[in-house]
This record gives sequence, structure tokens and C-alpha cells, in this order.
Amino acid sequence: MAEGRFTNPVVAALAGIRDFFARQQLADRYSDRDRADGKTVLVTGANSGLGFALAVEFARRGARVIMAGRSKIPEAGERVVRLAGSDLVEMRYLDLSRIDTIHLFTEELQRGGTTIDIALFNAATALPGSRKTASGQDEMFLVNYLSNVILSRLLITKGILKPGDPDTRSKVLFISSDSHRGSTGIDYGEFGRYFEYGVSKGISNYSYFKLVLNTYATELSRRINGDGIKMSINVICPGPVHSNIVKEAPWLLRMVLKGIFWIIFKSPARAARPVVYMALSEDYKDTTNAYLHMFNPKKMDPKVYDRAEGKKLWDRSMQLLREIDPQYSVYGAAGPS
Ligand SMILES: NC(=O)c1ccc[n+]([C@@H]2O[C@H](COP(=O)([O-])OP(=O)(O)OC[C@H]3O[C@@H](n4cnc5c(N)ncnc54)[C@H](OP(=O)(O)O)[C@@H]3O)[C@@H](O)[C@H]2O)c1
Repeated sequence: MAEGRFTNPVVAALAGIRDFFARQQLADRYSDRDRADGKTVLVTGANSGLGFALAVEFARRGARVIMAGRSKIPEAGERVVRLAGSDLVEMRYLDLSRIDTIHLFTEELQRGGTTIDIALFNAATALPGSRKTASGQDEMFLVNYLSNVILSRLLITKGILKPGDPDTRSKVLFISSDSHRGSTGIDYGEFGRYFEYGVSKGISNYSYFKLVLNTYATELSRRINGDGIKMSINVICPGPVHSNIVKEAPWLLRMVLKGIFWIIFKSPARAARPVVYMALSEDYKDTTNAYLHMFNPKKMDPKVYDRAEGKKLWDRSMQLLREIDPQYSVYGAAGPS
């Protein structure tokens, strides 16, 4: 059975203390002068927490921001307009637990002739247990992992994310968590299969699915880029964020976690800084498959870089999509390789 780094939510939250006090190697490279004028930035899960703060920050820096989410439409977008003093902000409906909405979302972008310069795959959920989606998968598996595969593949296939030279190519950032480290390898017996579980396995799955996501990001970068860089595909952990991520936890646990968040976790605006840095700084213009843990460049868990594992995950993900997505043919036969 797959196991993530943590099974106890309080222990997981307390691990944030170390991050809170960790040295931030590249923090002084963060600059208000890194602008995003003329760029189109997509943020998933943009109505709340880190995603909302990122929407504000990129709008402030001159970008056209597409806020994708399933709730608080249009209120969250209107707040970003007010806070950033920019009207280049739009909100689009996207429920990552429903595959059909991912297709509709990308079709709409394609119809509008939109291309995206920076895509921030930020949305994720932490549920207290299993929940079955309309397409039959576990909700955390779909939202935290598979929807990112679907969305990235559709955006690439439709030419919304584009390869190119350093000034024109799209940048993709997967928002992950350093808690992926130490998770077990990918369990293909469980992969995409729905079964019931409770809080401990839910916590464990959160970090485990981040390991799966990072493995996919690494394989995607390999397939798109080969030996050069055609598209910049990186991974970042923002560190502990005082956000709404525990909103579905049982009441008492939620109160405890919120207390910990309040005392030691960073505000979303602060947690957004390394993400903005990685997306806009010249330092990361020519990189792919890099990882930042806040402002600290690191390697991810070694399992993430295993080529055979990356290929296997890719093949199994596509096989699963063939089985569950009636619109599978839209991805294109060869995929983005
Ligand atoms: N909080 C931390 O300490 C921490 C640490 C490391 C990494 N991260 C990562 O940071 C990212 C942002 O999380 P956060 O802390 O800012 O939590 P958050 O406030 O709960 O934000 C998560 C976002 O994902 C969205 N989302 C969840 N399920 C969705 C679905 N089915 N369809 C579309 N959107 C959905 C949420 O929308 P709704 O409001 O509609 O639910 C919300 O906008 C996540 O990838 C998380 O794993 C967080």
C-alpha cells in the first residue's frame, strides 16, 4: 500500500515549524522589479489561499490573470481587481474533480485564441477521507494528481501552452509540497482505483500524491524537452501556508490545525514570493525540471527522477484516461512527446 510521509495531521502541520525557521537561500533574489506585463498567467485554485495571493501578485505586476476555480466566482476575481488595481483579471469555472469541466475550460481558452505564458498548477485538496467522483476515482487522486495531467496535456495539445525560445516559451510551475519526500514508491495496485479510507490515509495520500505529481512533472519535462529546453517545467513547494487547506478536516482537528497555522504558518502573500520569483526571475529563465523548496534549490525525492518509473507512470496515467475519459481522443494519439 502506498504511504505518504505523514499519517498524523498534527505532526504534518508541526513539520512546518522547521520550514518556517529554515534559511531562505535565494530570498534576496526576490524583486518587485520582476514584471509580468504582456504575459498571460493561469492560476488554478485561484479563489483562495496561495492561488488567490498569486493572482493578486501577478495582476499587480501587469499580467493578464486567468483565475480558474470552482467557487467564489466572480467575488474572488473582483477582490483581485480591487487589491491589484488592475482590470486584466478574469475568472473561469474549472472543477478539477470533474473531467468534463477541464475539457470545457480548455476549449473555451482555445476558442478565445488564448495562449498562456505562465501556468501555475496550484489547486489541491486535503480531504479527511475517500470520496468518489462522478468518473469513479478518489477525489484527492483526481484533483491533486490526475487533473493536472489532463489539464497540462490539453493545454499543450491545443497549443495554449507553447514551446519556443527563452522569451516566447511557456513556463509551467507545479505547486507541490516538500512532504512528498519519503513517500513510498507509486503503488500501481491502488493507482486510480477507488477504495474507502479515513483521516490517516487521507493525510498520507496528500504527500504521496505530491510524489506522484512530481514524478509526472519530471517525465513531462523529459518528453517535451529531450536534451534542450522547449518549455520550462518546474516544481515548487511554497512552505507552510496559512490557507484554507484544512477546511474539510473534522471540527476539533480543524481548530487545532488552524491554531498551528495561525501561529507558525506564513501568510499566502508571503508564501507566494518564491513562486513569483521562480516564475519571473531571470535566474529560472533557462531551467526545466528544477525544484525549489521555498527559496531553497534542492533535489526532489530520488524516486521522482527514476526514468523507468516516469515512463511507467506516464503509460499508466494514459491507460487510465483511455478507460475513464470519453473524450480521450482529444489528447492526440502521440501526446506531447
Ligand atoms: N497550506 C500549506 O501549508 C501548503 C504547504 C505546501 C504546499 N501547499 C500547496 O499549495 C497549494 C495551494 O493550497 P493552499 O494552501 O492555498 O490551500 P487552499 O486555500 O485550500 O487552496 C486550494 C485551492 O484549490 C482549490 N480546489 C480544491 N479542489 C478543487 C477542485 N475540485 N476544483 C478546482 N479547484 C479546487 C480550492 O478551491 P475551493 O475553495 O473551491 O475549495 C482552492 O482554491 C496546494 O497545491 C497545496 O498542496 C500548501
